[in-house]
This record gives sequence, C-alpha cells and structure tokens, in this order.
Amino acid sequence: MLGRQLTVPTFMSVLFLKRFLQRPFQVASIIPSSKAMVERVAGKMDFSQRRVIAEYGPGEGVHSREIASRMSADSKLLLFELDPHFSRDLERQFADDPRVIVINGDAATLTEELDRHRLPHCDYILSGIPFSILEISKKRALLRKTHEALAPGGAFIIYQVTNELRQHATFFDRAESEYCLQNIPPMFITVFHKANTRNGHAKPGRHEPELSVNHSA
Ligand SMILES: C[S@@+](CC[C@H](N)C(=O)[O-])C[C@H]1O[C@@H](n2cnc3c(N)ncnc32)[C@H](O)[C@@H]1O
Repeated sequence: MLGRQLTVPTFMSVLFLKRFLQRPFQVASIIPSSKAMVERVAGKMDFSQRRVIAEYGPGEGVHSREIASRMSADSKLLLFELDPHFSRDLERQFADDPRVIVINGDAATLTEELDRHRLPHCDYILSGIPFSILEISKKRALLRKTHEALAPGGAFIIYQVTNELRQHATFFDRAESEYCLQNIPPMFITVFHKANTRNGHAKPGRHEPELSVNHSA
C-alpha cells in the first residue's frame, strides 16, 4: 500500500522540500509548480516547428518534462540548474533523451553554453529562478544576456510571485502578464517579446515594454 502511494511526483516533492530547506533563498519555493501552471506556461510556446529552448532553474523538472513531451524530435532543451542534487536528478530523468542538455551551473552561462553546443540562439527562454531577490546589477546583466540570446521574434517567459521584473526588462519590445491562481503561491506569468526583424534587422531602441495584464485565473 505504502509502496503504491510513493509515486514519482511524491518523491520529487520530497526532494524539492529537502533542497528548499538546504538553500531557501536559491530554491525560493517549498513545492514545485502546479500542473495548471505548467500547462499555462507551456501554452505560451509554439511547438509546431523545431525549437531551441532554455530553462533557468528547472528544479526537479516539472516544466522541463512538459516541454520535452511537446517539442519536436529535432528540438533542443537546455536546462540550467545551480543545485547539484536537482541537476543529477534531471540527468537521470533525461538520460535517454538526446534533445535535453542538463547544465549544473548558473543561468548566466547561457551564452557560453549556446556557443559550446553550436546553437546560434534560443526561440524561448523560460525562467523559474527567484529574480526578485537577485541584486540589481546581476538582474539587469542576466536580462540583457537573455535578450541577446533570443532570436528575433523570440520570447522570455517568467513565473513569479511579484511582477517587479517588468520595470527592469527594458530591452524587450512588449510584455503580457496574467495571474495564475491555481498555484501555491499564486503567480504572475509574464511573456516578454523580443522584436521581430524588420528588413533583416532587429527593431532598434530600448524602451519600457508595453505591458498588458490579464487577471483571469
Ligand atoms: C522556485 S524553484 C523553481 C523550480 C521549478 N522550475 C518549478 O517551477 O517547480 C527555483 C530553482 O531555480 C534554481 N536557481 C536559482 N538561481 C539560479 C541560477 N542563477 N541559475 C540556475 N538555477 C538557479 C534553484 O536551485 C531552484 O531549483
């Protein structure tokens, strides 16, 4: 009976709680994202063609598994996870999936990792890291790198308790937010869009992104 109750998700949640207790500021949450939030986030991406996707802070991989299940056979998913325990677990989960690359390192190494894997850019970058507690210079540096690594027309997607990042994400052209109540705690999901090319050149200029907020749950 007990053996039947100890499902994979239960084990994953135990790992999550343990890592939170070890590194509360880095992990910043006691349970993984809910199924509802995972589906809402994945629904922001178009998987109809080959995609290169990076995920910052996958934790035990709840979003990564959903993305991997939706993406095409020639797509790539790069997972940047600082915590060595989570990273080892992700390597085990995706050992048979050559599309998934696990990097036990800082999201800030994105550019180097893209070069190493001969990937020119990302179509989507998803972030679950606690951006709000990063010091301002690190936050802006990571946002700039993120913007540079995206293909024209690409998007940076974040889920966070506060929506403060939008005031720092001035490199992006446009942002859309919605509030997901079906998560503990409820979170904003925000999609920052990088301008598409005009005559082969990215739209110039850095300005405050236009923000629209949809409060539907
Ligand atoms: C709130 S948890 C999110 C976990 C998972 N994405 C989810 O939705 O359940 C944040 C994760 O980000 C990782 N993290 C924090 N800062 C990071 C950084 N700079 N680079 C890579 N991972 C980081 C933490 O180790 C932790 O696994």
